[in-house]
Amino acid sequence: MMAHMASPEAFDAVEVIVAKRDRHELTDPQIDWVIDAYTRGVVADEQMSALAMAVLLNGMNRREIGRWTAAMIASGERMDFSTLSRPTADKHSTGGVGDMITLPLAPLVAACGLAVPQLSGRGLGHTGGTLDKLESIPGWRASLSSEEMLRQLDEVGAVICAAGAGLAPADKKLYALRDVTGTVEAIPLIASSIMSKKIAEGTGALVLDVKVGSGAFMKDVARARELASTMVALGTDAGVRTVALLTNMQTPLGLAAGNAIEVAQAVDVLAGGGPPDVVELTLTLAREMLAAAGREGEDPADALADGRAMDVWRRMILAQGGDPDAPLPVARHRHEVLAPADGVLTQLDALAVGIAAWRLGAGRARKEDPVQAGAGVLIHAKPGAVVRGGEPLLTLLTDTPERFPRALDALEGGYFVAPHGSRPDLLPLVVDRIA
Ligand code: URA
Repeated sequence: MMAHMASPEAFDAVEVIVAKRDRHELTDPQIDWVIDAYTRGVVADEQMSALAMAVLLNGMNRREIGRWTAAMIASGERMDFSTLSRPTADKHSTGGVGDMITLPLAPLVAACGLAVPQLSGRGLGHTGGTLDKLESIPGWRASLSSEEMLRQLDEVGAVICAAGAGLAPADKKLYALRDVTGTVEAIPLIASSIMSKKIAEGTGALVLDVKVGSGAFMKDVARARELASTMVALGTDAGVRTVALLTNMQTPLGLAAGNAIEVAQAVDVLAGGGPPDVVELTLTLAREMLAAAGREGEDPADALADGRAMDVWRRMILAQGGDPDAPLPVARHRHEVLAPADGVLTQLDALAVGIAAWRLGAGRARKEDPVQAGAGVLIHAKPGAVVRGGEPLLTLLTDTPERFPRALDALEGGYFVAPHGSRPDLLPLVVDRIA
């Protein structure tokens, strides 16, 4: 009897690492192999860490990034929305503070006739996660089977749920590794990570909200533009109509950073109110999604004003077990941060507010930690507002008041009140559009 022979591997991990270390282009077969072998456990974590660092330092060209993305898609299953009667469109934000736009946007765009499959994530670090926010609604559940998701898309038009384990498993493994090896910030790795999931999800149109500023991964406009154009090229090459907006994350979006308090703000927007920047960005992204899906004729402002978007929201929450009328959890303790003087608020730093909300319990330090539904930061003045000394600028919320001092430390230097007549030096809400 012949002894069983393990099938020989096409490459050796070290030769692929050395090639990228020495600034060579990786070949298509090398990329296909290294992603597949890493998913199978043949390439070890320490080898993939070295390769990720070599990519961070030496980059990849458009062909390499495209192939890397395709290999990550091929590591798992692809979803199929071709049985739906409506065109599909999705939005992805690279992550920010107070960014709850998905919550009003998905039902709004569904109310305008599209199907919106929004596979979302949880927060890590100072950026919040859409699923954590929705889980503050009593009864709401994030995990749906593919059949439940398709049924809800057909019947309601919008679904916000967790991505199943089968979608781009190579990315799940690699993202967790990058998180602990200082290799998150590589543009080729961010772009392929986001786009492999979006392409595998099978949406027909995709609008990317690439955040720029202290509260974002990309701190400056040039890098944000490079990330946006890399992702637009990947989407377009894969047949997905893709457009990207660069939007301001120097200061938090809206007037809340947390979970339940951001849901409450989303409901305000759906009821026709809400903070002007949130309403403007929601409508801008909705118009882009409709245009990318060939439905320019619809004005989303109408669906917001006449209550159709709110109806879809209620049905979307109910379909996933949630009670849209249940009171949202409220934090047990609050602490006001007061304006130090009369004048104009010229700075409210997104990263400082994001870290404060995180330390109050709205976010998690490790991915298995629970979050507090009621924790976070309420914002009473945005940059440009005239404030009076002693009036509240921020309200900090938590169930565990021992967290207040560390949250206050995070806010140290994060806001500034200048004399009357001063103006904040801020980017516009929408900085650029890349198609
Ligand atoms: N979001 C992702 O899904 N991947 C990244 O690499 C960064 C943000």
